[in-house]
Amino acid sequence: MNGADDDALVAAALAVREHAWAPYSRFAVGAAGVAESGRVYVGCNVENASYPLCVCAERTAIGTAVAAGERRIVKVVVVTDTDPPASPCGACRQVIWEFGPDAQIVVASTNGSRHVTHIRALLPEGFDGAALRGAP
Ligand code: THU
Repeated sequence: MNGADDDALVAAALAVREHAWAPYSRFAVGAAGVAESGRVYVGCNVENASYPLCVCAERTAIGTAVAAGERRIVKVVVVTDTDPPASPCGACRQVIWEFGPDAQIVVASTNGSRHVTHIRALLPEGFDGAALRGAP
């Protein structure tokens, strides 16, 4: 998918949410990340019987984007079945910040409700490579 609008991105996140592996929380999440290239990378949450190993949908999507060679994320769409829609967890905010400090965040519910925000609103004064000597 390329150059998608928010409706198409929500549809992509909804579709991948169907693949969520969430037998423990029963909380399925789908995410769609848009890279600077315009390409879209989707991800779902992947849980594990060893609970701390659960991976969120946003991080699955961003990891897939990075593995494809992307380095910049401009938008992340997250779909849950809650209303108001769930916001990215703290760990995901930090990972979004690494690749998308200017990313728009769209959270959406399966019932159609939607809220648009920004990573800088969700993670003010984020920690990144600038704080580390010799970082990119
Ligand atoms: N989860 C996500 O996929 N993204 C978030 O931002 C919050 C939480 C997942 C992790 C776990 O599989 C389930 O939701 C319940 O926490």
